[in-house]
Amino acid sequence: MKTSETPEFYTGAPVDPVDLRFRSAFLAELWQSLSTNHVVLTAPRRTGKTSVMDYLRQHPQNGYSVASINVQDLTHPADFFQALLDALHDAHPHFVRDQLAEGWSLLSGILSKISEVEVGGFKLALRGSDPNWRDNWRQHGDQFLAQARRTSIPILFIIDEFPDMLLKLAREDEALLGEFLGWFRAQRLSPAPSRDSIRWLIGGSVNLAGTLDSLGMVDLINDIEDVPLPPLTDDDIRAFVEDMLGGRGVPFDGNVARRVIERLGRPIPLFMQLATQDLYRLWKKEQRQLTAEDVDNVFDSLVVSSSARTRLQHFYSRIGQYYPEPKRSAAYGLLSKISVSEAGLKRETLLQETERLQLEQGIQRPAHGSKRTFNQLLLDLENDFYVVEVAEGSYDFACGVLKLWWRKYYA
Ligand SMILES: Nc1ncnc2c1ncn2[C@@H]1O[C@H](COP(=O)(O)OP(=O)(O)O)[C@@H](O)[C@H]1O
Ligand SMILES: [Mg+2]
Repeated sequence: MKTSETPEFYTGAPVDPVDLRFRSAFLAELWQSLSTNHVVLTAPRRTGKTSVMDYLRQHPQNGYSVASINVQDLTHPADFFQALLDALHDAHPHFVRDQLAEGWSLLSGILSKISEVEVGGFKLALRGSDPNWRDNWRQHGDQFLAQARRTSIPILFIIDEFPDMLLKLAREDEALLGEFLGWFRAQRLSPAPSRDSIRWLIGGSVNLAGTLDSLGMVDLINDIEDVPLPPLTDDDIRAFVEDMLGGRGVPFDGNVARRVIERLGRPIPLFMQLATQDLYRLWKKEQRQLTAEDVDNVFDSLVVSSSARTRLQHFYSRIGQYYPEPKRSAAYGLLSKISVSEAGLKRETLLQETERLQLEQGIQRPAHGSKRTFNQLLLDLENDFYVVEVAEGSYDFACGVLKLWWRKYYA
């Protein structure tokens, strides 16, 4: 029997705020940073960023009103402001109607025409409010934020998957990306955060600085405080496994939690959930005490399970999407090579492999050119959380499950 406090398994969706664990110290740290700065929260995919953001939204502190959007699929600053305004209206309709719209004809014009309960009506009306929204994004953005500041209500804007939007923008219109980032930076610096009622919390599964560095625009975001989401600790994983199994009456021996910790590598919480859920299912089927050997079997089959496969596939396809040739082939080549290593490979070995791959593709560059390409590639793979420097000058997959999967399908 599951005790009433034992949380559900979450296998993909963000953790509901009532079930969020292991993040209270981090949440306090985040509010602390937000009290003086704008913040960027980065961590690999499926590690719990959105869960933390959802918690912030449901339990705001320091009198903040929160509006939160996911901008992964947006490709224009105009879409950005419309989405943000719509989210603010969803979360705080009275604030938008009674305070934000005051003296702002664009917004009050819309609000006079739609009823509060009409689902989707606001967004549609907003989109139709100016036939030249795309040309006028800057003016509307300026006015939006000026109106928000005039109310003096502290507002936290949460922007999830921001680097993805920037990458899309970069591909469609690099000049526009530069303009948008310049505008955004000016908005963050004036007024200074200490005197601003607005705060930005930006999240992303790829490293923002890394993304912009490759575009030569990193100076447009270096005012934002970088707050990394800490990986779950061994104690967290142990507590998770023991509570999720123990709370469901599953008997397991003393080696089970330790083996889960070992098999996870750098813990991606999603895989911790999937593996623990599989242990629970195994017990339901076999009704016996679980052992470390069961953990091994669960991890080995996790890699080939359909639930994990779709999640893992993303890590593979992302390179095809975002790494231009010749970087793409080199990245695939290096990751294959690392995936069959015992505990990672030396930088020197990886450099040689990159050069070999380039020769194979008929690319011949002066040695310093290929070295630069290699350094950039390794940095990208680190920034995008594929690899970590496990020991001085030695690189391995950041995530044990991903490594096994890569070895199985792509080595
Ligand atoms: N604090 C946590 N405890 C346990 N599992 C978590 C936690 N945070 C996230 N997860 C797991 O990670 C998955 C993805 O969470 P999410 O917040 O969407 O991550 P991200 O936004 O970083 O991709 C969840 O479905 C859940 O399996
Ligand atoms: Mg997310």
